[in-house]
Amino acid sequence: MGMDAILQLKTNAKAAWATGSYNDIAAFVPPAAHRLVAAAHVQDGDHVLDVATGTGVTAIAARRTGAKVVALDLTPELLQVAKEEAGVADLQGITWQEGDAENLPFPDATFDVVLSSFGHMFAPRPDVVIAEMLRVLKPGGRLSFVTHRKGNVANSFFAAMGKHVAPPVNPPPSPFLWGDVDVVRQRLGDKVRDVRSEDGSLDFPAVSVGHFWRLFSTKYGPTMKAVQSLGGDRAKLEALRRDFIQACAPFWTQGVVKMDYVLTRATKR
Ligand SMILES: C[S@@+](CC[C@H](N)C(=O)[O-])C[C@H]1O[C@@H](n2cnc3c(N)ncnc32)[C@H](O)[C@@H]1O
Repeated sequence: MGMDAILQLKTNAKAAWATGSYNDIAAFVPPAAHRLVAAAHVQDGDHVLDVATGTGVTAIAARRTGAKVVALDLTPELLQVAKEEAGVADLQGITWQEGDAENLPFPDATFDVVLSSFGHMFAPRPDVVIAEMLRVLKPGGRLSFVTHRKGNVANSFFAAMGKHVAPPVNPPPSPFLWGDVDVVRQRLGDKVRDVRSEDGSLDFPAVSVGHFWRLFSTKYGPTMKAVQSLGGDRAKLEALRRDFIQACAPFWTQGVVKMDYVLTRATKR
């Protein structure tokens, strides 16, 4: 993939994540964020980086321990919301930084802990993003992230949406490969030790799968971008809605859509 194609992917990603109201989706993430912070043993005095923080759910959970937290994201609109969210939580002192996870603006070996919740997985070059996250981590530092489990509801509805939109000219590797533990181990390579993976699941309470569609098609940037790309064509929109609902239906039970994730932790050598 050439640099122009990569830049284009990032420009598109930024526009997509700025669309809608991601904060309404992030409202379901705190249980995973707190589990992530606990798994990384974040504590008072640690210097922590949250990569692709979005509206700051994981950064805020980390800051609550007393750690010194830097939170980075590609999308400035989300960082603005994140600042407000920290204010709502009565937490000060998080450094919010616009930037690219594939080119982290920090010296080598800066942080005790590097975290990401459903974030670094969306950078287009897995080898580059993981090299950067490990570069800024101190030797002996803890790396921990949650990623969508391969084949989960998000993987399923992204595949459904993909049938209705033009694919990028040079598609990056699927972000959902970060939800395959064998691939994750291979990507981490020998720069880390003590790699552990755990399963988890986020609950999205939903009256019906149609309600889950309504939430995502009105709040979640990538789904809203897919809707917008149909240019108001009602028949196409209905086809997208039906495919999305069909893709999500197996994950809905007893009023909840289950979004499975994998929590990975490792220690830098
Ligand atoms: C699904 S959201 C996750 C946000 C947050 N970590 C959470 O758990 O709610 C994905 C985030 O990745 C960010 N992102 C995508 N590509 C990025 C990149 N190359 N560098 C930094 N952030 C990126 C988006 O702006 C968005 O905030």
